[in-house]
Amino acid sequence: MDMKNDKPLVIIAHPLPEEWLEGIRTMCELVIGPEEATSFPKRLYERLDQADGLLTLLIDRIDEAFLARAPHLRVVSNMAVGVDNIDLQACTRRGIPVGNTPGVLTDATADLTMALLLAAARRLPEAAADAREGRWHKWEPAGWLGADLQGATLGIVGMGKIGGAVARRAAGFGVRILYADPGERLDLEAETHAARVNLDELLHNADFVTLHVPLEPATRHLIDRQALRQMKPSAVLVNASRGPVVDMQALHQALTEGWIASAALDVTDPEPLPPDHPLYGLPNCLILPHIGSATQGTRRLMAEMACQNLQAGLGGQRLPYCANPSVYG
Ligand code: DGY
Repeated sequence: MDMKNDKPLVIIAHPLPEEWLEGIRTMCELVIGPEEATSFPKRLYERLDQADGLLTLLIDRIDEAFLARAPHLRVVSNMAVGVDNIDLQACTRRGIPVGNTPGVLTDATADLTMALLLAAARRLPEAAADAREGRWHKWEPAGWLGADLQGATLGIVGMGKIGGAVARRAAGFGVRILYADPGERLDLEAETHAARVNLDELLHNADFVTLHVPLEPATRHLIDRQALRQMKPSAVLVNASRGPVVDMQALHQALTEGWIASAALDVTDPEPLPPDHPLYGLPNCLILPHIGSATQGTRRLMAEMACQNLQAGLGGQRLPYCANPSVYG
């Protein structure tokens, strides 16, 4: 029989570099999941009834049934800004604060968005493959022609922290910026000359559309057949938010039938996208394995914030970065 020692038991669903866990190692008994697990490891379920805290990744689904197995849970700390993998209402009903990591990944994600945008605009994956695979015969005056950013229209869907950071970067490339968001961003309008429009107008007018909305019922398949149909045949779609914001089947049709020119995706639905997925076969679709926040500094900061949230939750204090503040009444 497992005896609970006097330190709080914290389950870390997936291994993280040792040095990222310095903040909590001494104050907790840690149970760490196996490297190969692609979601919350089944074998850790038997420890849930003793768990005081959880450190999760966006691949761990925390719902009502899961929480029912963890009656002593005092804090869930998600090492991500997005919390669509967690049933926040179920946690709130049980009085469990949920931590996330806002802010620290804004710049890294905005940088990657610009990389995707530029790669798709200038057809980097196709050009690189041609060079590597022997199709570079001479300097081609009309070969590998891409789209100009200077003077083009960029549509930003979701002008939160990350959308705003993309707007600031893109302004330096001389694009005209439109954005669709329920709230106004007057600060950015002054700084970047961004103009707020509705989604239809944005889709009609943008040469580049980039998505930065959280995944919620209202944003699932926000970019569906109808939305893709409204875009220009020369348009580029970039998604660095959450995969299900785009209807992947409709996107495949849009790319094969020329409704839009190309797509660059850091996120897919499902994740990982299986290797035989038809989107991989399209030269006008660039797919990355969800690496928006993957810089050394950013991931370390995310882990630090996740540990701070855990520490606070275990100590009965308000989480410094809390995704369900209504838990505190
Ligand atoms: C997040 O934090 O939500 C990103 O998608 C992963 O860094």
